[in-house]
Amino acid sequence: MRIRAETALTFDDVLLVPRHSRIASRSDVSPHTLAARGLALAIPVLSANMDTVTESEMAIAMARCGGLGIIHRFMPIERQAGEVARVKRAEGYVVEDPVTIEPHASIRQARALLSGAGIGGLVVVDRQARVLGMVTKRDLLFAPDEEEPVSEVMTPRERLVTLQAPADLLAAREQLHAHRLEKLPLLDSGGKLRGLITAQDIMRLEQHPQATKDGKGRLRVGAAVGARSEDLERAEACLHAGADTFVVDIAHGHSENCLGMVRALKQRWPEVPVIAGNVATPEGVRDLAQAGADAVKVGVGSGSICITRVITGFGVPQLTAILECAAEAHHLGVPVIADGGIRRSGDAVKALAAGASTVMVGNMLAGTDEAPGATIIRDGRKMKVVRGMASLSASADRLVIDRGADLEPGDWERIVPEGVEAVVPHRGAVAEVLDQLIGGIRSGMSYAGARSLAELWERAEFVRVTGAGLRESGAHDVEPIG
Ligand code: XMP
Repeated sequence: MRIRAETALTFDDVLLVPRHSRIASRSDVSPHTLAARGLALAIPVLSANMDTVTESEMAIAMARCGGLGIIHRFMPIERQAGEVARVKRAEGYVVEDPVTIEPHASIRQARALLSGAGIGGLVVVDRQARVLGMVTKRDLLFAPDEEEPVSEVMTPRERLVTLQAPADLLAAREQLHAHRLEKLPLLDSGGKLRGLITAQDIMRLEQHPQATKDGKGRLRVGAAVGARSEDLERAEACLHAGADTFVVDIAHGHSENCLGMVRALKQRWPEVPVIAGNVATPEGVRDLAQAGADAVKVGVGSGSICITRVITGFGVPQLTAILECAAEAHHLGVPVIADGGIRRSGDAVKALAAGASTVMVGNMLAGTDEAPGATIIRDGRKMKVVRGMASLSASADRLVIDRGADLEPGDWERIVPEGVEAVVPHRGAVAEVLDQLIGGIRSGMSYAGARSLAELWERAEFVRVTGAGLRESGAHDVEPIG
């Protein structure tokens, strides 16, 4: 037995010391960062790959705000790939592969396609992909006969405004305005469908200049995978759907399983950034980086819904874990993601100041409109459910997914949960929560006199606080309202 360190600290154990600053306004600082090598973000925030936090709606909101969502893996492969595809379809300079329908398909089929893909219109094509018309939600809204063919309600080719591919966005914008249209199919000289430009996409380009986008103007998204052999199949399906990064998501990331998966992913798709974790030691960072990881996720037992430390006795208080891991990671040129335990913007500033390039948040976003967790009313207040991915119910659900069959007698008793199920208050839209979080981070950077995260790492100085210091740090000697 050996004691590795006499003390290890977490966020409430420290404060950052104000430094001389030349920064006049919070807008003079830039929290631009890397989620992983080759994956830049305008804001240093990732949404956690948990089934009550990140599916497509959350990932879309995160990317629009300049962050990144990681689609969780606790669902069948095809469903996860579908979630990734929804994000990639949400916007783009040109929709390269628009959803199409044949003219004799029924209105019922068209409605199902529209809601399944989460889009507003379908291009009607013949078997040779020649454009015959368009059908939009509005065309279908009050159509009384669901079995009628879409050709009866579509805007036919002769009344359709189209553009010759390749079209530039400015020309498309003019056409959309001139004809007061929402969608503009792009055709080749033979009348075949080559893409679609939408008014919404052009508007969003202007509304979200900081959005996290790929070279085609599509929102970026990550996909979590496990470390079993079938997870390579999962990775392939998600990549095919457009995933921009893989997150190898294992409770104990410093394990041969995780290292083997990172190597396998990098060998197969060297150009796709791989984020791996979770670890809590510099040795873990080093081994994952040597296996090829492009970012390392740090945090063992730090999450709000985690009971790993209680059940197993393992973990490292999160600030020490970040400080030690980031020192090694900076040396190796690999970004660190501080995952778990971020409750307020001050914690995020401390995590970044300790050397993290981004923070991953679960709890802070689980109460938002875009989180997939169920909404319930408790004592007259709107709450949302959040659960640890190793909680009893999540573990049971995973067994069912893995087996493709119901639980068997004794299954519940065999599960040893390392997470809990809980509720958090409803918090409104992701954009509002991120505005507060990023406002706090910018303000924190200005207290350090840091214009960039690299300057924050260099200039940050922590002091340890006592219990009295901690009490002084919050509102005190007043009666808070509400
Ligand atoms: P916060 O504090 O933001 O933390 O809610 C989110 C992170 O918690 C981790 N996580 C778990 N850890 N048991 C654990 O020990 C669990 O059941 C569990 N579920 C999630 C995960 O790293 C997530 O990003």
